[in-house]
Amino acid sequence: MAEKPVIYVLNGPNLNLLGTREPEIYGADTLDDIAGRLEDQAQALGVAVDVRQSNHEGHLVDWLHEAQAMEAKAVLLNAGAFTHTSIALYDAIKAIKTPVIEVHLSNPHTRESFRHKSYVGEAAKGTIAGFGALSYALALDAAAKL
Ligand code: DQA
Repeated sequence: MAEKPVIYVLNGPNLNLLGTREPEIYGADTLDDIAGRLEDQAQALGVAVDVRQSNHEGHLVDWLHEAQAMEAKAVLLNAGAFTHTSIALYDAIKAIKTPVIEVHLSNPHTRESFRHKSYVGEAAKGTIAGFGALSYALALDAAAKL
């Protein structure tokens, strides 16, 4: 049987604390809760997900390169605060042909002005933000249909 297309779901700094981190902004789900639901959704869509989290910018860069090397179908990237600071992530997204979808739980445009700039969004194929954990589900649906 042919292997299923794989979609990387990469999560940046502080997202390991989902569930207890500012739940009024980010919701009550943990990253494991979100990952479990994405796995079920992926199965129904005929794809596989590889969900990872790191607090280190370089890990995210390495995983973007890996996504291309492993011929991943797409990447969902919630880069956390690196979204707003990281030219290295901008360059990594530009450097690979794998489509990258920017994901956020909150809507950064309705928050502090320092969140309005997104280096990730300037390089990504598209952005889904502001729907809480549902942002990931919507992005996975889009990625599976690319
Ligand atoms: C976030 C939004 C970012 O501004 C913030 O730094 C995060 C989470 C989100 O998912 O809403 O860490 O990416």
